Amino acid sequence: MSERIGIVTGGGDCPGLNAVIRAVAKTAAKRGWDTIGFLGGYEGILEPQRYLELDYNKLGPMLTRGGTILGTANRGRFSAKVGLGEVRRLPQELIEGVKVGLAKLAIRGLVCIGGDGTLTIAQQLFEGGVPVVGVPKTIDNDLEATVLTFGFDSAVACATDALDRLHTTAESHNRVMVLEVMGRYTGWIALYAGIAGGGDVILIPEIPFTYESICAKIEEREKAGKHFTLVVVAEGAREKGGQFKTLAEQAANREVRLGGIAGIVAAEIERRTGKETRACVLGHLQRGGSPTNFDRVLCTMFGAEAVDLIAADRFGEMVSYQGANFAPVKIAEAIGRLKTVPIDGGFVRTARALGISLGD
Ligand code: F6P
Repeated sequence: MSERIGIVTGGGDCPGLNAVIRAVAKTAAKRGWDTIGFLGGYEGILEPQRYLELDYNKLGPMLTRGGTILGTANRGRFSAKVGLGEVRRLPQELIEGVKVGLAKLAIRGLVCIGGDGTLTIAQQLFEGGVPVVGVPKTIDNDLEATVLTFGFDSAVACATDALDRLHTTAESHNRVMVLEVMGRYTGWIALYAGIAGGGDVILIPEIPFTYESICAKIEEREKAGKHFTLVVVAEGAREKGGQFKTLAEQAANREVRLGGIAGIVAAEIERRTGKETRACVLGHLQRGGSPTNFDRVLCTMFGAEAVDLIAADRFGEMVSYQGANFAPVKIAEAIGRLKTVPIDGGFVRTARALGISLGD
């Protein structure tokens, strides 16, 4: 039997998952290895096993295809993250189940594609003796130890396109438009899309806002003859001294669902300024569809590098984008701490230099 490697995709989906799967299957095949893709996240490794044999010649167009052909899960038995900073240990019997499942298929290494939650599980499996390597995925870009995660650029492209569209209607109607974007507890998507799409006010979790500051910006624009304003708000943004806005009660074994802040901000802006204001929640559009060109390249390089890590027996490591270079890092360096927007870093400084209000 030829050598085999396995792949799992876990957590929320995003553009580029299939591009990574393709790159892994293709580069593994070049080494003469077969690739097994487990279905439904880590659960597919356990009995009754569920997997696909990924013969890349029969896979069809994977580079551009959104979602993940393997399916994914962000709840259930393999949930290690349940809230901000809360980590749960996997029961030993699950770790043993994964070992047995991989041994049964003679898998020499498992590529775990995911964000903080999936990689926290990967790290626990590694500590339990499972040969894993990581690939950093999330539209939120909140993973440490990599400059970028794949999926982020595609989400920013979607949010920027939404802002471009809101711009023209805001201007026609002399309105304030509030766009809510994802990003969980970080403001990367809001900040990048806000800068790329000409936002006037960008509200991020890292910088709590006041309504006085937001409305002052709107008034300033009015005085300058600009009778419309674009506000970008990250789902995790909150008023100074305020709470995160959540959509529902937290279910067991699930992360808190953030959302709904745009409606609140829009209503308060209208109440204070008297200007007609509308809210738009972009939601899961940011997670669907084809990856951008940049993400396709990033995914392809990540997939190929992951296979190299397995070939070199560098288990417990994650491929990582370091600007000009790709260099593996320990999975443990990537998890446990969110990579937040540095509040005195280049992106925030640029926004301020342009006169963009950050609501503080
Ligand atoms: O982590 C990715 C993400 O899309 C976050 O930006 C968002 O808060 C969350 O997942 C949404 O999760 P769900 O798909 O469970 O609604």
